[in-house]
Amino acid sequence: MKITNAAFVRSVSDLSDLPEESFPEIVFAGRSNVGKSSLLNSLTGRKGLAKTSSTPGKTRLINYFLLNDNLYFVDIPGYGYAAVSHAEKDAWGRLLAGYVGDRAAIALVVLLLDSRHPAMKSDRDMMDFLAYHDRPYGIVLTKDDKLTQKERTHAKRATESCAMNAGFIVSYSSVSGKGKNELLDHFDRYL
Ligand code: GTP
Ligand code: MG
Repeated sequence: MKITNAAFVRSVSDLSDLPEESFPEIVFAGRSNVGKSSLLNSLTGRKGLAKTSSTPGKTRLINYFLLNDNLYFVDIPGYGYAAVSHAEKDAWGRLLAGYVGDRAAIALVVLLLDSRHPAMKSDRDMMDFLAYHDRPYGIVLTKDDKLTQKERTHAKRATESCAMNAGFIVSYSSVSGKGKNELLDHFDRYL
């Protein structure tokens, strides 16, 4: 697919405020700080579309973006950030189960893994969750520009060995745009 326009639609803090299921949804999930919002900006070519931060936990709401007037990209809060309270972790768990687990409009979940630390325990839990709910998902290994060739090979192998159900594994750099066309081509298969 080619992205011709992208617009922020709304932020949702409560599942009862989700928009109608008018378009297919591609969800971006992963640990805090893995690069979800940066990936969205890189894919759409719009630097300030999703707010990014070097401090983990920046995205606290479900953020809807409308692409090409016929598809939603959904940026959800990251998991695995140690400094959040129990109450926040509970809220995240409810959101995950209620949105990612139940929403019929979700066509694909893009699970982002930091290529320097692929498949940590919380990531493997997420893969189990997605498999349990029969969600089609693919993996993006982020921050590829930070790796040596040896680390790159290791990251890919380590991911392949635990992500059995993933429909694709793409190495990505939001800095250079590496992986962008490959990832957009994969999206077409799920829409
Ligand atoms: P939360 O909203 O907190 O869950 O984080 P997030 O997953 O949305 O991460 P975000 O896109 O805000 O990026 C976190 C940090 O990683 C920022 O400092 C980004 O500039 C940096 N970053 C993201 N992607 C890349 C990348 O491909 N390469 C490099 N070098 N840095 C990146
Ligand atoms: Mg974010």
